[in-house]
Amino acid sequence: MTHLLTLAGLARGDIEAMLALAEATPAPLLAGKGAALYFEKPSARTRNSMELAVHQLGGHPVYLTPGELGIGTRESVEDIARTLACYHGVICARVFDHGLLEQLASASPVPVVNMLSGTDHPLQGLADLLTIRQLCGRIEGVKVAYVGDGDNNVARSLAQGCAALGAELTIVAPEGYQLSDAPAGVRQTTDLAAVAGADIVYSDVFVSMGQDAETERRMADLGAYQVNEALMAKAPDAWFLHCLPARRGEEVTAGVIDGPRSAVWRQAENRMHSARGALMWLLQQD
Ligand code: CP
Ligand code: NVA
Repeated sequence: MTHLLTLAGLARGDIEAMLALAEATPAPLLAGKGAALYFEKPSARTRNSMELAVHQLGGHPVYLTPGELGIGTRESVEDIARTLACYHGVICARVFDHGLLEQLASASPVPVVNMLSGTDHPLQGLADLLTIRQLCGRIEGVKVAYVGDGDNNVARSLAQGCAALGAELTIVAPEGYQLSDAPAGVRQTTDLAAVAGADIVYSDVFVSMGQDAETERRMADLGAYQVNEALMAKAPDAWFLHCLPARRGEEVTAGVIDGPRSAVWRQAENRMHSARGALMWLLQQD
């Protein structure tokens, strides 16, 4: 059974196939079936884009929360996975602990999809790659500068996707916030001057979901890594991307994210197309 828990380890051709399917006509691969969408954390883009993607494939999404499923308390992880697979063609989950996804996947007879974990956000990474290709006409050789918290789920999936498809990613982050397991070819620096010449400047929040207790330290450590007009001036031809939700005045200024070089709404729309492509690819595996 093929699952999508991370972009790590996927062949270039697998990612390219998902991106191609994102722009292909949807097929009714979930007709008569459901898709379990389990959320331990809030979501605007992921829940809505997944519900629509499932609908476009002829399936029926069912939104689930910890209160009703009681994974690991009311019932074991394994029994939940087997139960959900009785009705659903795919089990999708947004979790704090990536290990829960691995447990679900090891018990599930249907594909399991990571809708964001503490370490990875592969559906975001796919949308980012699709958006980069649409904006730049290619992915290979595109210069991407990720600025800010370089050791989070979004940065990790972006790095894995860029490495697989040949984009030149530079993570610009202070010591202690660089990606702990960067793929070969990903450059890391503390120097903001490294955004010069970028085709894409990418930002995410300084404080991810579940990190509220670290807010004061993170804001102090990362404050200088705000994407603002002065930083964007170092990369005059760059588009700005952000996975959203954004905190204007923290990791990005309103002038940048709401400005003419921002492509965040196209990127948000692409969450639906790339999710649909990923589901089509998964449902066509053996
Ligand atoms: N980018 C993203 O995953 O947004 P949500 O948290 O709103 O789903
Ligand atoms: N890094 C952020 C991404 C939100 C989509 C978080 O985990 O909160």
